[in-house]
Amino acid sequence: MTGGDSGVDANDTEAGDGKPDPAAAIDAQSAARREDLDDRIADYSAGDEQAGIPFVGAGPGDPRLLTVAGRELLADADLVVHAGSLVNSELLEAYCDGAELVNSVGKDLEELIPLMRDAYEEDREVVRLHSGDPAIYGAALEQMDALEREGVPTYIVPGVTSAFAASATLRTQLTLNEVANHVAFTRPQGKTLSADEDHISEFVGMGDVTTCIYLGTHAVRDTMERLLEDGHDPETPVAVVYHASWPDEDVIVGTIGTIADAVEDAGYRASALVVVGEAVTGAGYERSYLYGEWANRSDDADE
Ligand SMILES: C[S@@+](CC[C@H](N)C(=O)[O-])C[C@H]1O[C@@H](n2cnc3c(N)ncnc32)[C@H](O)[C@@H]1O
Repeated sequence: MTGGDSGVDANDTEAGDGKPDPAAAIDAQSAARREDLDDRIADYSAGDEQAGIPFVGAGPGDPRLLTVAGRELLADADLVVHAGSLVNSELLEAYCDGAELVNSVGKDLEELIPLMRDAYEEDREVVRLHSGDPAIYGAALEQMDALEREGVPTYIVPGVTSAFAASATLRTQLTLNEVANHVAFTRPQGKTLSADEDHISEFVGMGDVTTCIYLGTHAVRDTMERLLEDGHDPETPVAVVYHASWPDEDVIVGTIGTIADAVEDAGYRASALVVVGEAVTGAGYERSYLYGEWANRSDDADE
């Protein structure tokens, strides 16, 4: 939503000292969003070049897993604000030739928003580069809302999220007929999620869900212990894919009962994706309807 079509002045969201007030901007943008769909939803598709600052998904690590759209935007960029160590420096070197590079880690919105806004207003090409896909645990929307309230348009350019890189590395699918009918993208309890908001045990308990746990490398033991306490089968397959698609990628495969020791032995505390469920092994699935029994398909088949 642009500042212009929401009926709220950019100034309404500024703190008394003239600095942007991200919390007020988020409230105002949320209220406007509830009232009306953004006109740009009808005007543009994912992948279209648009006015404003693109929030680009860098993909999981390997520079070749960046989208073509993302690469073109980085090639034209004067300023790239990137997600620090989660974005492979090889990608920055290969595709951000000549751009000023700023690491967003350790900067709050009050610092990031004026940095991007001022550069945009000076007619510099600005790219905000997130790891994976910005829509998954990227905290992109709050930056976009704060920028929009400052009169700076924004949009998302999708990327390959780390769960998709992990499934490719594991040579499996996250959905598999009968054994993994659903996928959950989730994270464990901690500073951001309370125990009540941690649904990992519920997803695993559903039986046919592949549970992809982001931001949980440091908490593998706690998570597995909770699953055991809740009575889940200790033999349930679990994979921990560290740095999927990076040169130092590592894959640890085990079970709810064994994976914590293996991850601790390897010494990983961050930057891994934890996958729980039968999709890890890719075993036991049924032939799908998609490539079978064409002659007997009903008219309402939609796949
Ligand atoms: C702040 S979240 C960002 C997720 C990102 N937006 C995405 O779509 O992958 C960071 C978490 O993503 C996961 N992650 C990011 N890159 C990864 C990679 N290359 N391999 C495995 N996990 C990764 C880890 O669980 C890490 O703690």
